[in-house]
Amino acid sequence: MDFSDSHGIKGVHMRDYCLIYLNGLRKEVRGPETLLMLGDWLRKEAGLTGTKIVCAEGDCGACTVLRAFPKFKESPLVFEAMNSCIATVAQMDGSHLVTVEGIQRGNELSPVQKAMRECHGSQCGFCTPGFIMALSGAFEKHKQLSAKTAQNYLTGNLCRCTGYQPIIDAALATQTSSSHSLSQRYLKPDFTADLISAQTKSLLITTQTHTFFAPASLSEAVAFTNENPGFRVLGAATDFGVQTNKGKPIPKALLSLHLIPDLYEIQETPGCITVGARVPLAELRRAVSSTNPEFSKFLDLFASPQIKNVATLVGNIANASPIGDTLPFLLISDGQVHVASQGPKNGTIEKRLIPLTELYLGYKSLSLKPNEIITHVSFRPHLKNEIVRLYKSSQRKDLDISTVSGAFSLVTTQDKGIIKVQEARIALGGVAATPIRVPAAELALKQQIMTPQLFQDVAQLLANSVKPQSDLRGSQQYRKVLVKNLFKKFGDEVLRG
Ligand SMILES: Cc1cc2nc3c(=O)[nH]c(=O)nc-3n(C[C@H](O)[C@H](O)[C@H](O)COP(=O)(O)OP(=O)(O)OC[C@H]3O[C@@H](n4cnc5c(N)ncnc54)[C@H](O)[C@@H]3O)c2cc1C
Ligand code: FES
Ligand code: FES
Repeated sequence: MDFSDSHGIKGVHMRDYCLIYLNGLRKEVRGPETLLMLGDWLRKEAGLTGTKIVCAEGDCGACTVLRAFPKFKESPLVFEAMNSCIATVAQMDGSHLVTVEGIQRGNELSPVQKAMRECHGSQCGFCTPGFIMALSGAFEKHKQLSAKTAQNYLTGNLCRCTGYQPIIDAALATQTSSSHSLSQRYLKPDFTADLISAQTKSLLITTQTHTFFAPASLSEAVAFTNENPGFRVLGAATDFGVQTNKGKPIPKALLSLHLIPDLYEIQETPGCITVGARVPLAELRRAVSSTNPEFSKFLDLFASPQIKNVATLVGNIANASPIGDTLPFLLISDGQVHVASQGPKNGTIEKRLIPLTELYLGYKSLSLKPNEIITHVSFRPHLKNEIVRLYKSSQRKDLDISTVSGAFSLVTTQDKGIIKVQEARIALGGVAATPIRVPAAELALKQQIMTPQLFQDVAQLLANSVKPQSDLRGSQQYRKVLVKNLFKKFGDEVLRG
């Protein structure tokens, strides 16, 4: 029997290897190696030990590599930084990767390496390859960096020794020219054509213990989910990778949607933005900067560039964490997920929509059927007369998860200088087992004239309405105070105009 028969994906034209270009060299990776984390594979199998693994949780950036992934389109390809410690090799299928070994030419250091040496940007050196790769990624997009831009590109990199200033100095001192462009050096049209051609064929890796399937179409994906109970979908694995590195067993059947072209699209129709399951957050941020500017800006506070260059909105939703940062926004913006499963006949697809308000059943529990996957998420753009603010309270501004988060929206009318609330929406994260809307507080704002007292009263009402759990990030009482203060802050900002 053809092996694919037993996975419900009979007769599909398959590859049994991941195709990767690594520093310009073509690699076909097969078998159990493909399920290693990329960083481990680079060091142990590819012999590229310049990439360092320190935290193995996406927090320190020491493992940063650059990745270019041609997404089926002619759009300009560019290398972007990602953490190699929390993504499997299999997920890199179809990508061109550059590691720290790939940036110098012979014995000549790259401009970033030279500047780091001259500015004393390295002491113990363990973090250095990661900083160099994060900055190399930044210089693929900018000719020069300001201190602020350099800091933004480096929020995902930690250094215990230098105090950071010498590294920023190095970023400012770096002199590049187009001859140093890694895209020009590595993204040769024939390499890219080879990757794009491979992407049209589904990928099935089977080991003695695991199956990794990356279908080239949605109908193959839903057939697989039907035949492989207990399967797990992999997005970018920024959460999955951390869990795996902490010792959680890898599920036997893994489904990656990275070869399905439609899932990389962001569609805008009147009143609705629809985002495919494979759209990275960094791309989403750019795409919604005019339709949902507050959300776009808020994504600056989400993780690091290395995470956002790969992590998906759908992964954040399906992760079902009560402190998932995008969820309060989606709850006030008519968010809904599009799910797909196999229809009554082989090759058919059944689709349905689930409003976000009905998606979460309890802590980390979703109202998805066992064979359903999320293909898209949609939400509405901000309205013209809508005031939207998104807040996140965390112990550290950058690269930290929320203790409490809030999304507040007011639709207002103005008559003779008096501003009245027509409609209010309030969603909170980190105060219950799931992210929640607070209807009592929304009702208390409706048809009211906006005054400082109104915001004070509703802030108190909000704090009284929630019963957060106490945990390491904050006690119940502390979280209640945060909720109250976030809403008071919102009121101050709104009343100041
Ligand atoms: C260093 C670091 C910082 C982080 N910072 C933040 C932060 O600031 N705010 C925040 O909210 N989160 C943060 N996260 C958590 C995580 O990165 C995000 O939740 C991210 O959006 C997950 O996306 P992903 O594509 O990597 O999902 P994955 O890890 O691939 O998947 C997450 C879950 O969703 C499921 N899933 C994925 N796609 C689908 C699908 N199509 N259908 C059904 N199920 C699916 C997976 O099976 C898995 O259970 C951080 C993580 C790390 C490692
Ligand atoms: S080793 Fe720390 S982010 Fe990968
Ligand atoms: S130089 Fe030692 S950790 Fe950065």
